[in-house]
Amino acid sequence: MKKVLFVAVLITLLALSSTAMAQVRVGVAMPTQSLQRWNQDGANMKALLEDAGYVVDLQYANNDTALQVSQLENMILNGADVLVIASIDGSAMGGVLAVAKDEGIPVIAYDRLIMETDAVSYYATFDNYMVGTIQGQYLVDVLELETRQDSVNIEITGGSPDDNNARFFYQGAIDVLAPYLESGIVVVPSGQVEFETIATLAWSSERAQSRMDNLIAANYSDGTPLHAVLCSNDSTALGVTNALINAGFEKDDFPYITGQDCDIANTKNIIAGYQSMSIFKDTRTLAANVVTMIEAIIAGTDVPVNDTETYFNGVYVVPTYLSAPVFADINNYEELLIDSGYYTWEQLHN
Ligand code: BGC
Repeated sequence: MKKVLFVAVLITLLALSSTAMAQVRVGVAMPTQSLQRWNQDGANMKALLEDAGYVVDLQYANNDTALQVSQLENMILNGADVLVIASIDGSAMGGVLAVAKDEGIPVIAYDRLIMETDAVSYYATFDNYMVGTIQGQYLVDVLELETRQDSVNIEITGGSPDDNNARFFYQGAIDVLAPYLESGIVVVPSGQVEFETIATLAWSSERAQSRMDNLIAANYSDGTPLHAVLCSNDSTALGVTNALINAGFEKDDFPYITGQDCDIANTKNIIAGYQSMSIFKDTRTLAANVVTMIEAIIAGTDVPVNDTETYFNGVYVVPTYLSAPVFADINNYEELLIDSGYYTWEQLHN
């Protein structure tokens, strides 16, 4: 009899605790579905959070800041307990996040730091500066900059100026290339080196392509060689690659192109011999880190962070959980992307 009572109590407790869990609502705001990575980020977050028993409100904002703000307002109205935000314009969130703060809702900035507000509680991302240094070091290695005597020509294509990450990627790469730019071993024939001149609004492939069209017409149509284009990510690399192919650059003598994200289209370009490398940021890792952070927030225990110095958002240094980005190219993509189950072989070869 006692045993039956004990089991009944246990079942009731379990039911109560799972009801309590089911009531924890997590709003997940993603910037756009037009870029492959954010679809994966959103899907991973949703699946992991639901597995952990949370109710998830996942929204994509079509790269429209006003839409993202109104989605966040709705999440707050609908009783979100935690917000996870990959912002479009990191500096435009202050107003809606002040409301979240008033309501006591913790906010995790996802991949992109949210700027100019004290209402962001934590930041989870990959080491953005390291992404840039890996790209820069790759060019140092393949162009043999340390030993070469003659100069090489490169161009630079950066990310979106409203995304705090873009300057970190740029700075990481430029810091590695700086000695060679100063010595004249690396030349940028367009003269466009400053971040403002190389940035690509909304990380748009089309904008990156048309800028590259112009750079080619103005600087390379007379046969001046172009050895490499430093591209901050895959969407910009795609535009640059298209411009180069359209302008008649041959595969055998294609400039080295860097990238980031290992998007399917870009990995196919790596396999086809157009893009040279990318950076693998396993979105499964990032999503899992964020779920761990949310669980700690809900349980009221210490939230795991490993960087409390780097990410000043204009108001304060946001405690951050950094993961390491990984170099990817033709030699290791199968192991990184296929063997790990990130993509199927067919996705990359059809
Ligand atoms: C992300 C990159 C991505 C870019 C464009 C950045 O904030 O860190 O992985 O390529 O946005 O979406």
